[in-house]
Amino acid sequence: MTNATPRPMRLDALAYGGDYNPDQWPEEVWHEDVRLMREAGVNLVSLPVFSWPQLETSPGVYEWGWLDRVIEVLWAGGIRVDLATATATPPAWLVRRHPEMLPWDADGRRLEFGSRQAYCPSSPVWREHVARMARAMAERYGEHPAVVLWHVSNEYGDHVARCWCPESAAHFRRWLEARHGDLDGLNEAWGVNVWGQRYTAWEQVEPPRRATGPINPTQLLDFERFSSDALLELFRVEVDVLREVTPELPVTTNFMSIFRELDYWRFAEVEDLVTDDAYPDPADPRAHVPAALNYGLMRSLKGGQPWLLLEQAASAVSWRDVNVPKAPGRMRIDSLQAIAHGSDGAMFFQWRQARYGQEKFHSAMLGHRGERSRSFRETAAFGRELQRLAPVKGARVRSRVALVVDWDSWWGSSAAESLPSQRLGWLAQARAWHGALHALGHAVDAVRATGPFDGYDLVVVPNLYVTDAAQADALAAFAAAGGTVVVGPFSGVVDPTETVHPGGAPGPLRELLGIEVDEPWPVPDGRAERIELDGVGYDAPVWTEWIEASPEASVVARFAAGVLDGRPAVTRRGHGDGAAWYVGAALAEDGLVEVMRRALADAGLPARDRIDRDLEAVTRADDATDFTFVLNHGDHEVVVAVPDGAEDLLGGGTVGPRLVLPPLGAAVLAAPRAAEPPFVTLSETTE
Ligand code: GLA
Repeated sequence: MTNATPRPMRLDALAYGGDYNPDQWPEEVWHEDVRLMREAGVNLVSLPVFSWPQLETSPGVYEWGWLDRVIEVLWAGGIRVDLATATATPPAWLVRRHPEMLPWDADGRRLEFGSRQAYCPSSPVWREHVARMARAMAERYGEHPAVVLWHVSNEYGDHVARCWCPESAAHFRRWLEARHGDLDGLNEAWGVNVWGQRYTAWEQVEPPRRATGPINPTQLLDFERFSSDALLELFRVEVDVLREVTPELPVTTNFMSIFRELDYWRFAEVEDLVTDDAYPDPADPRAHVPAALNYGLMRSLKGGQPWLLLEQAASAVSWRDVNVPKAPGRMRIDSLQAIAHGSDGAMFFQWRQARYGQEKFHSAMLGHRGERSRSFRETAAFGRELQRLAPVKGARVRSRVALVVDWDSWWGSSAAESLPSQRLGWLAQARAWHGALHALGHAVDAVRATGPFDGYDLVVVPNLYVTDAAQADALAAFAAAGGTVVVGPFSGVVDPTETVHPGGAPGPLRELLGIEVDEPWPVPDGRAERIELDGVGYDAPVWTEWIEASPEASVVARFAAGVLDGRPAVTRRGHGDGAAWYVGAALAEDGLVEVMRRALADAGLPARDRIDRDLEAVTRADDATDFTFVLNHGDHEVVVAVPDGAEDLLGGGTVGPRLVLPPLGAAVLAAPRAAEPPFVTLSETTE
């Protein structure tokens, strides 16, 4: 059930607002809430995410009255509703009636009620009840004009992404049977002759519980796939009901940024709108860099369609060990960053700060001090300012660079306990590669390894541990047609059953890359090898490889120390009208930046000569206009060269050719759409 024509959300402005939990407050507060929401420019709220127990107080006994009244109060105030199906957490009465729906951990311990998400994703009882609740919500509120979006469940997998209970085990067996056909297929795929694991009956097959030693890696990988699919099935249970009762209303479920446990490519196929919850750590001065990767993924999950930042913090969160508030201006620049990257709005968790419960120290738009709280002053000011950005709604980010995100490779290279090194880290590599391109001035999209690659000049593949022929063919076709591909270490290693490709890595990528990997050569902790690139040395910590380059491949950089001294480290092979690079090492940041600089040049793309990692520029465009967001994430002034005469939607008036951005400063430049997206650099002159 893919969703080829996403239903649009009926909201004629950028979305602004937050999670609203009116059932934590007396009714008179709701009226004050709406008054203050209007003052803050709020036009959308998400509710009632965790309210099932307040809506169905005992089996079949519904208390709709309070929610009816809240929705009326909001509607009267002109505020739209992102209506949750309220299935993010089960009522206690349901759990006590059906304790078998509680999830188990890998040690076989049942997880108790007392937090949220107390359900096994495979539980038939849970599935039956969420379908019932979604139907009840849809039938009661689906026609209400205030309701513009369905918010299914909440952050699937946040607390319980994997379950090892007997129901999950049975579901896993059914899933395996569908994937592998029969036990012979399973035994072959799992390579059971190693360590004698042949199965002769399906009942013998279990999810990977804690075992005596390292577990079969294909069993682990299949369990990751299965667990993501089990939650996707659960999502579909609700989506099917909602589509039946309210076929016009768009559906979303809020994602958790770039999240290992769920294959968001597949989730996004089902929904109409991608929404994300993002919590860059204010204590990390570089947090905007991984945030850009995350947002690149969000806009790419539905092929560039605008997405929505559904949750962020106005200031501090309450779930880190140390929860640093956002300095004045940080919430604004963080919000602008998400919008720059294609979000059609900026929303928060939550509207009014709780006074009790697990999240009472989590900031909100309206802090404990109410109207007098700094978070209210800042969010209200930003809500008003946001109205100036109305023209960017619907515009799409212009990017010529994409990074391959592949959940199979992420799972395969991290679930197994028997790898050349446990240190490579799929996400760390993806972030490092993205970070280098970010430093060089590019907004990076995400893409599947099979594409589509239309519109890109450069596709980078930080890690594709699990590779099949379709992926290799798609990458080769992109290069043949003139694209530049850069593939990172430990790619093309295994097929989807985790069987090493004949002849070893890079398997089906061998022809394209023109190299063979004789052996991975991981680097011991605390040490680093060196590579030399154009006469300059760079560190290669964590991972190197013994590479044999074919005569067709040229050597771009060589190792410059240790056993691999003089051997190829980075290679390039021309392929059709394009080229394919291989980077056989995990490089430290400076080296990676230099490799990416050369790859960008090979792809005919610009790169910043001088780098300031706090400067970010992203262009969203509609048919007529380029909207270039120029953002200074840092605590120092940045002087930027921009196209002359552009209109600044935020500051008003025209700017250029120099633009001075104070700490946390931003401009959104509107100019007629150019053939190439504007490329923003630091100014060469400080005058
Ligand atoms: C997630 C959840 C919210 C809330 C916030 C707190 O995003 O979806 O319900 O718990 O975290 O940061």
